[in-house]
Amino acid sequence: MALHKIAVIGGDGIGPAVIEAGVSVLEALGAAEPDLSFAFTRLDWGSDHFRRTGRMMPADGLTQLQVFDAIYFGAVGDPDLPDDITLWGLRLAICQGFDQYANLRPTRLLPGLAGPLRPELGRQIDWVIVRENSEGEYSGVGGRVHQGTSLEVGMDVAVFTRAGVERVARFACDTAMARPRRQLTIVTKSNAQRHGMVFWDAVCRRVIADYPDLSVDWMLVDAMTQRMVNKPGSIDTVLATNLHADILSDLAAALGGSLGIGATANIDPSRWRPSMFEPIHGSAFDLVGKGLANPLGSFWTASLMLDHLGEPAAARRLMAAIETVTARGEVLGPDLGGQAGTEEVRNAVIDAIAGANG
Ligand code: IPM
Ligand code: MG
Repeated sequence: MALHKIAVIGGDGIGPAVIEAGVSVLEALGAAEPDLSFAFTRLDWGSDHFRRTGRMMPADGLTQLQVFDAIYFGAVGDPDLPDDITLWGLRLAICQGFDQYANLRPTRLLPGLAGPLRPELGRQIDWVIVRENSEGEYSGVGGRVHQGTSLEVGMDVAVFTRAGVERVARFACDTAMARPRRQLTIVTKSNAQRHGMVFWDAVCRRVIADYPDLSVDWMLVDAMTQRMVNKPGSIDTVLATNLHADILSDLAAALGGSLGIGATANIDPSRWRPSMFEPIHGSAFDLVGKGLANPLGSFWTASLMLDHLGEPAAARRLMAAIETVTARGEVLGPDLGGQAGTEEVRNAVIDAIAGANG
C-alpha cells in the first residue's frame, strides 16, 4: 500500500480553491485505486500569513516541508504586497531552498479544446519545456546602489555555473530520451549574450555528447517563438534558461488553449528533498470568491505529481479523466469558452475517474 505524504499549500488568490479541488480529485483516485492513498497536511502559508506574522512562511518552513514526499502548491501573489516579497518569501524560497533545479512544463492541446492556432497546427502541439530553475537570470545576484540619485544603478546578474547547466541539461536529455521522438531543442541567445550564453551552449554541447541516440537542434530564443507558432510539430522537448523558459512557457500555455490548464513541476531530481507541483496560472485575484477558477491546471499538476511519486498508472488515469471532460466539452470553465465553475469541473473529473474503472 503506497501512502504518499503531501504538503498542501494553497497560498494566495484562487490557489486554495483549485488546490482543494485537486485534493478531492486525488482522494477520489485513492478511493478508486486499491494501492494508492494520501495523507494531506495543509499549511496556511502565503500573503495572509505574512500579514499576520511578517513572514510568508515560518522561519523553519523548509524543515517542516522536508518530511513530505511532495508539495502541492496553489499560487502566490497579492495585489497589496510587492511581488518580490511574496514570491521570494515562499515559492522561490522553496524552489531554491530545496534546489528544485529542473522545472518541467508540458503542453498539449487537450482533446476538444481550441487554441489560437489553426486546428491542424494546434493538434501538433505536444511539448515538454525543461526550465533551468535555480540560477540563470533568477539567481538573485545583483543590487541597487545610489538610490534616488541620478547615479542610481539597478542590476540583476545572470549566473550560469558549469554544475548548474550540466545537471539541467542532463535532466532535459533524459526527459527527451524517455519520449518517443527522442528530440531536444536547446534554446539560447549566444549571438547577443557572449559570456553566460556561450558558456551555456558549451556545457550543453558536452552533455549531449553522452546521448548519441538523441536528436538535438539549437534555436535562438526569439526565433523559437516563431517556430512554436508556425511549426509546432517540429518541436518535442525543449531546454531553456530560467527566464527564456518562463517566457516560452507562457506562449506554450496560450497556444495550448488557456493559461488556466497549464501545469508545472519543480523537481529535485536527486529526490533528496520534496519536489513541488503547481498550476502555472498564478493567484488571479479578479476571480477570487466567484467559484469560477478553472481547476484543470491543478489536476494536470496532480498528474505530474503522481508520475514523480512513482504512480504512473494513477497519473494516466487522472489525465484520461481530464481529457474525457475536455473532449465532451460540456463542463468547461469560462477561460475555455464554457460556464462551469470550479466545483462542477471537479465533479465532472471525479465522475470520469470513476467511469474509467482503472
Ligand atoms: C512562472 C511565473 C513566475 C516565474 C513568477 C510568478 C515569478 O511566471 O512560474 O512562470 O517567472 O517564475
Ligand atoms: Mg511565468
